[in-house]
Parts: sequence; C-alpha cells; structure tokens
Amino acid sequence: MKVYTEKQQIVTAIDAFKAKKQTLGLVPTMGALHKGHLALVKKALENNDKVVVSIFVNPTQFDNKEDLVKYPRTLETDVNLLETLSKEHILVYAPAVEDVYEGNMVSETFDFDGLEFEMEGKFRIGHFDGVGTIVKRLFNIIKPDNAYFGEKDFQQLAIIKKLVEKHYIQVNIVPCPIYRETSGLAMSSRNTRLKPAYKEAAPVIYKTLKTAKRLFGTKSANTVSKWVEKQFDSHDLLKLEYFIIADATTLKTVQRKIKKKKYRAFIAVYADDIRLIDNIALN
Ligand code: PAF
Repeated sequence: MKVYTEKQQIVTAIDAFKAKKQTLGLVPTMGALHKGHLALVKKALENNDKVVVSIFVNPTQFDNKEDLVKYPRTLETDVNLLETLSKEHILVYAPAVEDVYEGNMVSETFDFDGLEFEMEGKFRIGHFDGVGTIVKRLFNIIKPDNAYFGEKDFQQLAIIKKLVEKHYIQVNIVPCPIYRETSGLAMSSRNTRLKPAYKEAAPVIYKTLKTAKRLFGTKSANTVSKWVEKQFDSHDLLKLEYFIIADATTLKTVQRKIKKKKYRAFIAVYADDIRLIDNIALN
C-alpha cells in the first residue's frame, strides 16, 4: 500500500485515477484506527474505485495541548490494518503539519449558522474552526466524490455538511452509524488510553443514553436531563460534562417537545483525564 506524505505526490496519483474516470472516496482520520474507522473504509471501498485514508493529527482542532501531545500516533499499525482491507484500492495520505499548513498553522474562522456554538463548541473553544480548516484543506487536496464521517461525532458531521453547503464544495457526505465495542462503549481512538477501571465503568455512558431514550417517550426533556445528571452525581469514576437533548437539525437544546421534530441526546463525560462523547437518536 502506498503511503504518501507529500500532497504533490498524492495529487499526481489522484489526477491519474480521475483521468481514467475512477471514483474517489475520502475517509479523514487522525489515525489510531479502530473497527469504527475500518467500517468507514469498508463502506468507502464498496462505493468508490479508490479510497484515500488521511491520517493526520490536526493541531488546530485541539483546545487542550495535553490532549494533542497524548493523542495516540500509530501509523505503522494503522497501515497494517488498512492492508487487511485492500492493498490495491487504498491510498494513505499521512502528511506532516508543514505539508498541510505550509508555514501558516492557523484556523480559518467559519460561520456554521450557529451549529458551532452548541455543545462541543461551548466546551472546546476553536475546535470546529480547526475541524473546518483541515477538512476544507483535505477536500481541496483530494477532491473526493464521496467523504465518510461517523455519527459518533454527530455535531462534527452536521458542521461538515454545512461547510460543504456554504462553500459550494462538490462532495457527497456519507454519514456512517456509530460503531460500538461489545460493552456498548462507542469506539474512539481515545479508548486505548483508558485505565482498566475506567474502561469497565465507561459502558454506563451508553446504558444511560438508552434509558434516556426510553424515558424521553413519556417524560419531558428537562426531567430526562435531570435524571441523567443524577446518575453521574454520585459516580466515583465518571464526571459528566454535559447531557443535552437537542433538535437533531439545529442542534439547539430542546425546550418543549414538538411532535414531528427529530431529537437526539448528546453526552460528554470525563473518565479520568479522557473525554468521551456519545449520542443517540431519541425518536
Ligand atoms: O473526526 C476526526 O477524526 C477529525 O475531527 C477529522 C474529521 C479527521 C478532522 O481532523
């Protein structure tokens, strides 16, 4: 499998595929690949002639320096994993910061119609400007027909759809369902850093979401939110950062349920110093 570290080289390879009218999928990642990423790549392989997997820990989207430093970097293992899916149809783009940012490692400022001010945007200042910046750059370099994003980062997915709409980017965004460990814990590269006791405790997050979904059938959003907060109040290992029930389109916190609207619950929890997020469709 070819691993490209320089954009000029991957652009040349891509131009050759495009000249042959081959379709191109992009799976943007920050590496430390797990089964969730592989599910995205598999889907991309089904729908495209060639798939680019980008592996780049993007500094501008980290509001927390320590998280950036500790973020797992496992390029060799990642490439081995991808080779189990296809050696011929996957290209890896694993650039250095300089190749992507060309000496100007700053975020663009975006207007995502307010999506950026909810939930993650409140707790991770500048995060979505960083995500928007890197994803826009990747779209510019790779020019994919289809790009694949997981629903675990549901707000990110909504923001990327908005990015594409507002900047008239010619790419089809394909959402992919959350991939879970057998315990129910949503797969995340950060899970590898969980100490055993925290790993054992973390499935409570999804269990709580499932109960919240059941309760939401008969109770108000406020009652459900209070119930969830109470579950974590007395928890020894997990610290709730937020639990929010929001309109699935605007991502605004729901005040009063309206019949035809779609709602989703979002949660962020600290397990030691590791921040875990998850979400669930409520109706
Ligand atoms: O979801 C991620 O892994 C990252 O936010 C992304 C989309 C690869 C951008 O760096």
